[in-house]
Amino acid sequence: MKNLISMRDLTKEEILHLMETASKIEAGKIVPDMTRKVAALLFFEPSTRTMFSFDTAMKRMNGQTIIMSGTKNTSAKKGETFADTLETIAQYADIIIMRSPTEGAARYASEVVDVPVVNAGDGANQHPTQALLDLYSIIKTQGSLENLKIGLAGDLRFGRTVHSLAQAMAVFGAEFKFISPSFLEMPQYIKDDLDEMGIKYEECDDVEGNIDDLDILYVTRIQRERFADPEDYEKVKGSYILRKNMLTNVKENFKVMHPLPRVDEIHTDVDDTEFAYYFPQAKNGVYTREAIIHLLLGGK
Ligand code: CP
Repeated sequence: MKNLISMRDLTKEEILHLMETASKIEAGKIVPDMTRKVAALLFFEPSTRTMFSFDTAMKRMNGQTIIMSGTKNTSAKKGETFADTLETIAQYADIIIMRSPTEGAARYASEVVDVPVVNAGDGANQHPTQALLDLYSIIKTQGSLENLKIGLAGDLRFGRTVHSLAQAMAVFGAEFKFISPSFLEMPQYIKDDLDEMGIKYEECDDVEGNIDDLDILYVTRIQRERFADPEDYEKVKGSYILRKNMLTNVKENFKVMHPLPRVDEIHTDVDDTEFAYYFPQAKNGVYTREAIIHLLLGGK
């Protein structure tokens, strides 16, 4: 694993090795040492969890970070090309972790520089480090990744987290319910991938009638910023709100996950139930991202 750009780049064995490494890091059985190593965090879109958990991960390993939040105070404003900016940052950093609104930007960066590149989200395309922390959270709550029934709800069209997670869980034989308004349904290329792998999925548009047989309900925000036409956003916003009173017949092992941030799609009355797992899920991002950096920078 030289870069981490898409879940499709990882084998099942590599995913499981990464999960085991994250678990050993959390348990203190592996203590990676990143002394004198620098991670460049290039974030051209807002972030709370991804940026700060990568920053935390690097600091927990005694490494350092340099951070670019947007291009406002950089020489990109003087006309420097993106390629030259990347090449320059690669002179300072041992690893580049990048979020961009442009699909394919991380792949492009990995072709320009020699240091490892991690995709921290590229437009509506992929968010592989989120998928890996989601898998780690699923193992912790379900004991295994194999043969689970997973509901993905909300913005399945523009939601990069659900694209990466569907591809990742398909490797482990998951069965899916895709719960969304038709305007926001799962892209055909993901469904084609699942068809090729013989993975079962059904599509529906109602949360309440579709959760009692699930192991995991993974809820996503309807992302205003991805809509070209604000009228389209107005038509679908608030389509789904998960409330505590919908959870009376769910399975004992059932958990609600969300990559966060949320707007109103999970009512706060769910937060105090045994089913809510979205804040521990965010914490798992630190261990998973420590493991990603450790393995990309040659840790055993
Ligand atoms: N889950 C996630 O990517 O959150 P941020 O946008 O806050 O990084």
